[in-house]
Amino acid sequence: MKELIDKLHIEQKLEPLEFKNLLQMEENQRYDFEEKDKISTYLFEKARTVRQEYYGNKVFTRGLIELTNYCKNDCYYCGIRRSNSNALRYRLEKEDILSCCETGYFLGFRTFVLQGGEDRYYTDRIMTDIIYTIKSKYPDCAVTLSLGEKEYETYKAYFDAGADRYLLRHETSNSEHYRKLHPEEMSLSHRKKCLEKLKEIGFQVGCGIMVGSPFQTIDHLVEDLVYMKELSPHMVGIGPFIPHHDTPFAKENSGTMEQTLFLLGLIRLMLPKVLLPATTALGTINPKGREMGILAGANVVMPNLSPLRVRKNYGLYDNKICTGDEAAECRQCMDLRMKSIGYEIVSERGDFIK
Ligand code: 5AD
Ligand code: FES
Repeated sequence: MKELIDKLHIEQKLEPLEFKNLLQMEENQRYDFEEKDKISTYLFEKARTVRQEYYGNKVFTRGLIELTNYCKNDCYYCGIRRSNSNALRYRLEKEDILSCCETGYFLGFRTFVLQGGEDRYYTDRIMTDIIYTIKSKYPDCAVTLSLGEKEYETYKAYFDAGADRYLLRHETSNSEHYRKLHPEEMSLSHRKKCLEKLKEIGFQVGCGIMVGSPFQTIDHLVEDLVYMKELSPHMVGIGPFIPHHDTPFAKENSGTMEQTLFLLGLIRLMLPKVLLPATTALGTINPKGREMGILAGANVVMPNLSPLRVRKNYGLYDNKICTGDEAAECRQCMDLRMKSIGYEIVSERGDFIK
């Protein structure tokens, strides 16, 4: 099995069956192998070597601003789905957002991620004005958007207003699986088209999945890896699925940290320069999840910059961490966490290296 990891390291790709063998091996070794004997230990070593080549000990940081928890969609896994009448809805105004950026800039963030549900309140005019204002005030910063599926013209308008990057997780590359996670009105083909449009316009794009989402199989994960290779995105966001009590998936199991870390390692070897966050969801299923994510090949962390009063309301899943901490506390906490494993958070835009 080590040969497969070596092959992935050298050739940056594997046959679907080879990925499948590796993922199965991880599953078999998960709980009854000693750490030193695990295939994952070997993978993570290789993954760290590769990230070290391109990024050294640097960890890039993105200030996450959770714009709105209104959403017109009804994804079965998500706590801010439109059918969740228990969600306390909020949206941030331009002034709120600018004040988050001001705090963030002071704390050393040079990328702001504006993420939110698909909220029709933010018309192209409102959104482009926000983007343009942030870029004018902070010309040395990157703006990343994560606002879901939009028309080509809207994406283009965002880009022309100065947005640099766009995150749109594809969630799964298998259309039957996609169907089981989303209502009829959404489709994988539309999602993939959006990612293509974003690339064509010139955004640095990010796709991604939830690991261990309901009905997910190892074959689905293999398809995800194949799709990621094909798309060759600048960023890949993956984190474990975590149930939310007010959704149809309330009673489902969470994804595992082990499988998430293993995928991070595989993705690092397959896409050596990719920007790969150790996500908040990973930090939620395990107190050391983000540190372990970095040690498995990730090189980005995304602390929360949202105003404290709305933090609890952006509940995609249960028990989300950092909902009671000021941005400065998260920033400091993250500094210490990265130092504790020999890595260093840097104040740089942290663009994809060509
Ligand atoms: N568990 C983990 N991740 C989730 N997301 C949404 N709901 C959940 C959940 N219950 C992820 C999706 C989405 C991103 C913003 O958050 O992958 O793309
Ligand atoms: Fe938010 Fe540690 S990162 S408190």
